[in-house]
Amino acid sequence: MLMIPPAEVLRQVVHVAVMAPSSHNTQPWKFRIHKDVLEVHTDPARHLPVIDADGRQRLQSCACALYNARVGVRAMGFVDEVTVMLTDDVDRDLVATLHLGAPHISTETDLALMRAIPLRRTNRRSFLPRPVASAITDVMIAAATAEGATMVRLSPDEKHLISHLVHEADRAQFGNPAFRAELTGWLNPIGSRRKDGIPFVEKEYGSNLPFTVARTIRSPSLGNDFGKLEEDHIDQSPVVFVIGTPTDDRVDWIACGQALEAVLLHATSLGLSASFLNQVLEVPGSRAQIGEMIPGIGFPQMVLRIGIPEDPVHHPAPRRDVADVLEMI
Ligand SMILES: Cc1cc2nc3c(=O)[nH]c(=O)nc-3n(C[C@H](O)[C@H](O)[C@H](O)COP(=O)(O)O)c2cc1C
Repeated sequence: MLMIPPAEVLRQVVHVAVMAPSSHNTQPWKFRIHKDVLEVHTDPARHLPVIDADGRQRLQSCACALYNARVGVRAMGFVDEVTVMLTDDVDRDLVATLHLGAPHISTETDLALMRAIPLRRTNRRSFLPRPVASAITDVMIAAATAEGATMVRLSPDEKHLISHLVHEADRAQFGNPAFRAELTGWLNPIGSRRKDGIPFVEKEYGSNLPFTVARTIRSPSLGNDFGKLEEDHIDQSPVVFVIGTPTDDRVDWIACGQALEAVLLHATSLGLSASFLNQVLEVPGSRAQIGEMIPGIGFPQMVLRIGIPEDPVHHPAPRRDVADVLEMI
């Protein structure tokens, strides 16, 4: 039997890791392979100082990549042995190490999640008005729980309250010139050759307005218009989830990122798509309100709406080349 060297298996795993979602598609990760160990690091140069001053979303994004890497390792026939970095005093940019463990017979779930990785896309459009059975949401809730997070499906009343808070958060954020400047730096006009950032097409947001990036960001009423669009999307979405963790420390941010990607991959494998509503957690007042509204959620870390996509994503977000983010030592 032909044996692939461990470092080569892990190099292939990095190709899978980089397909993970990340805040503003910053792809704030770096990888290092040494023999049978993959190190996942966060890249502080890809920080978002306005919406993510404490680096919470940056670590969550790296943890999504870590989760993809774990799925890749299992699908390639090895146990995934993860050590999350617990201390703040060593290398603060090291998120986790992933060892290639003993041989493992890949399960149906391993393979289904692996197939879902390249198919998963953030879909910001509206979803079909079809209910999602609790048997299906229970699978996603169990996936989040297995990673150490709590995920709660909101009642119609809670959903409506969140949609209102999201509208308010959009208005507040777009009223801040520093927020608009940061966002502009990560929105790509169509035709751009950039390998990071979000391709900007109004239709991908479910709007028919033919706006360019520059005109959109200059428009003073955008926060209100965008907030209204999001409010309608949320009210019409069959499922809104909030993911929370018991503490708000780095270890729990990493747990939440892994839980998030587990949920997104299960959703994809079940024919569902997700859209993020994290602006509501970037405004401190509304984050606290959500924490108080949902008993047992702890610290709210992520708000998602989920449903059957009406239309696929036509302009997938690009990725940097693996060679730009991987060091083999
Ligand atoms: C931690 C985190 C926070 C995110 N927050 C938002 C958000 O608030 N709004 C949004 O539209 N997308 C959000 N996204 C989605 C990213 O913009 C998306 O993953 C990225 O553009 C890459 O696109 P893809 O998911 O289709 O691969 C978030 C992703 C992550 C991992």
